[in-house]
Amino acid sequence: MVALSVGCSGGASDQSAAASADSGAITRESLAKFGASFYTEPPPASLDRFYPPHTQRMEYRDLMREMYLPESFARQEAQRGQWDAARRSWARFIERFTRLRTVVPEWEARFGTVDEWQSAIQPILASGTPADAERLERTQEALFVKHCEECHATERQRVYARYHFGTFRTVWAIPPKIDDPLIQVMLTEWKGKAAIPDGTVSFRDYMKLMNTSLMTAWNLADAGEIEAARVSMSRLETYLDAIPPVCAECHGGEPRRYFIDADSLEKFHAVSRALAGATVDRADVVRQLRDAFDNTCSRCHDIHLIPAKLQRAWALAANQVAPAQ
Ligand code: HEC
Ligand code: HEC
Ligand code: HEC
Repeated sequence: MVALSVGCSGGASDQSAAASADSGAITRESLAKFGASFYTEPPPASLDRFYPPHTQRMEYRDLMREMYLPESFARQEAQRGQWDAARRSWARFIERFTRLRTVVPEWEARFGTVDEWQSAIQPILASGTPADAERLERTQEALFVKHCEECHATERQRVYARYHFGTFRTVWAIPPKIDDPLIQVMLTEWKGKAAIPDGTVSFRDYMKLMNTSLMTAWNLADAGEIEAARVSMSRLETYLDAIPPVCAECHGGEPRRYFIDADSLEKFHAVSRALAGATVDRADVVRQLRDAFDNTCSRCHDIHLIPAKLQRAWALAANQVAPAQ
């Protein structure tokens, strides 16, 4: 898979939050209507060609930036009284806007028409008095809120989940060769559920391997079955040791380790050592295990689960996965 480079996404969408209440563009009703499709539909397929693996860069984002720059410059130049420069910037904006609004046909109407933007702004730029700079600011901002912000508030999350994160469902993992009956079940009985390469399990099933070991260790430690708890802890540690190649499927170029770095993994090793001690403080073992769980598993979920679950919901809605898969 192509390594993704993801930059800071920016400021534009924040500017107009305050103004949105007046514009009528984003309302409870419009958000509720959008919400109905949020879990059932990915963004329009015609966006595909602007993103990896079709392109090296996230080109739709590049186009947005290129369009935004002259639009914001026109305001600044007008504020400084540089009306000729403002008119030139505006012309550049209109040219890019005209092109960009049609590249995703499903979204064309959401940009508003070229005529709507031109007829609101052109007369202000033509007269160009100091008072007009304020009028330009207000008029441009209103259009921004009505069209740009309306789409940003509702579509960017889907676009991030769809394109910025890659696809979790097509990340496979080779489970380590250890004695865990669940691995065999996955490699044989569960295999019919998805077209996955021999000897591999899906990303989600790898999670289930880790989860089963962790929960079993927790439960057994809690119940005082220390020896059996150690066996499960040892499995969990092996799974965690073997996970970097799974992460590398998306983070290949630039390893992101801090949930599975040496310090984080040490928290799991400490649990195993505590279970091997001459006397075992069960409550303390459970507390340590819970903290290791929070630190590694839950914090990684905080980042990755929202895109993964949105992707899964779209696949479910399109009958591409079964609910349990
Ligand atoms: C990438 C960072 C990451 C780490 C580290 C991680 N998980 Fe996950 N986990 C995910 C993602 C993403 C999913 C969702 C996969 C999907 O739905 O396709 C997931 C799903 C799960 C699920 C299935 C939950 C569900 O609702 O489908 C369980 C259980 C789980 N993880 C447990 C764990 C445990 C236990 C650990 C630590 C030992 C752990 N995970 C570590 C990212 C991570
Ligand atoms: C129909 C939807 C839609 C409309 C309308 C729209 N945008 Fe966007 N815009 C997006 C999406 C989707 C992204 C996120 C792209 C990505 O990060 O991959 C984005 C991102 C941006 C970004 C941030 C790029 C970055 O650096 O992260 C800017 C700036 C921007 N848009 C400006 C505008 C302006 C100005 C307008 C109105 C003239 C506008 N957009 C109208 C969908 C839209
Ligand atoms: C399906 C793709 C995918 C997989 C698999 C994946 N990640 Fe990520 N992860 C991303 C994306 C995309 C981001 C957000 C952008 C970025 O930070 O690169 C991210 C963000 C992160 C961050 C936050 C980075 C930061 O700067 O704050 C960490 C840490 C991380 N991932 C660790 C992991 C670990 C550890 C694994 C394996 C257990 C993993 N990831 C698996 C796609 C993935």
